[in-house]
Amino acid sequence: MKDILSCMLVTTLICCVAAAQAQSDLTIRLPAASTDGKMPLEKVMSQRRSVRRYANRQISLSQSSQLLWAAQGITDVSRGLRTAPSAGALYPLEIYLVAARIDSLQAGLYRYRPLTHDLILVQPGDILSRLSEGLQGWVVEASAIIVISAVYSRTAVKYGDRAARYVHIEVGHVAQNILLQATALELASGVIGAFDDQEMRSLLGLPEKEDVLYVIPVGYMP
Ligand SMILES: Cc1cc2nc3c(=O)[nH]c(=O)nc-3n(C[C@H](O)[C@H](O)[C@H](O)COP(=O)(O)O)c2cc1C
Repeated sequence: MKDILSCMLVTTLICCVAAAQAQSDLTIRLPAASTDGKMPLEKVMSQRRSVRRYANRQISLSQSSQLLWAAQGITDVSRGLRTAPSAGALYPLEIYLVAARIDSLQAGLYRYRPLTHDLILVQPGDILSRLSEGLQGWVVEASAIIVISAVYSRTAVKYGDRAARYVHIEVGHVAQNILLQATALELASGVIGAFDDQEMRSLLGLPEKEDVLYVIPVGYMP
C-alpha cells in the first residue's frame, strides 16, 4: 500500500513538473481553437476587406489562437493534416506571430507549432516597431502580425522544379484562411507582399533556408 502511495506521489510530481515546463517562459500553450463560428461563410467572404488602420486595442490570446489554427491548425490528428491543403502533405510553411497588443502575451516574435498548438518565443521585445520600419508604416497600429515564411526544400524533395509553384499556391490558401478567420472574429486585417526579402529575414532573425512570403497585420477596426 505504501509502495502504491509513493508511486502515485512520484507520478503526480512528474506531471506537475511537466505541466510547469510546458507553461515555461519559452512555450505558450494556446487555448483550443473553435470549429464553430457566429458568421456564415458567405457573409464572411462578402465582408473581408484589406484594412490599413487599427484601433489601439488588445486582441485576446484566444483570438490569436484561432487565427493561427486557421493558418495551419491540425484538423486530422491521426494523419497530421491541416486546415489548408499542402502538396504531398509536406507543409513547407512556417507561421510566426509578432505580438504587440495581445492580452496576457508578452510582446515579441513567436513561432507557431501546429502539432502541439502552442507558441515558442523566438525573441522578446517590440518587434512590431522594428518591422514597421522595414515594411509599410501603417503596420505599427496593428495588434499583431502573422508572418508566413517558406522552407522550399521540404517540397522540392518530392516535386523538384515544381516546388516553388506549389509553395506559392499554398501561401495563398493559408493567407485566405487567416483573412477570413479574422473577418469572422470581427477583426480587421491587411496583407503585405512588398518588402525586401533579405531585410525581412534579418529583422526577424530567421535562418537562410527560410524565405518570408507574406505578412498579415491584424487588429480591431479603428
Ligand atoms: C499578393 C498581394 C500583395 C499585396 N501587397 C500589399 C502591400 O504590400 N501593401 C498593401 O497595403 N496592400 C497589399 N495588398 C492588398 C491589395 O492592395 C488589396 O488586396 C487590393 O487593393 C484589393 O482590396 P481588398 O483586399 O480590400 O479587396 C496585396 C495583395 C496581394 C494579393
